[in-house]
Amino acid sequence: PTITYELADGTRTDIKVDVGANVMRTAIDADIPGIVAECGGAAMCATCHVYLEKDSASAFTAISDVEEEMLECVAEDRQPESRLSCQLYVPEGIEQVIVRLPKTQG
Ligand code: FES
Repeated sequence: PTITYELADGTRTDIKVDVGANVMRTAIDADIPGIVAECGGAAMCATCHVYLEKDSASAFTAISDVEEEMLECVAEDRQPESRLSCQLYVPEGIEQVIVRLPKTQG
């Protein structure tokens, strides 16, 4: 599958990944700007906030209680498709995951 990261200015970057790849980790490894991930993936910082494109959203695991709590703390407006990218692992059976990045994480 491919993860497509769309920056706030509309720039898109496609990255090929394996099933099970972590959406936050992949962005950090590829130097995608816009994901800070201060806590390193522990669902404790809310600086890895992304907006999951609607078609992709249902394929992912549901929001956990911990993630839910942290989503209250994101810097940019929370939307229905808001997720913490460190909690997102690319599921099987999906060809493309599109995530939009917020303008700011801080
Ligand atoms: Fe800190 Fe996701 S990396 S909450």
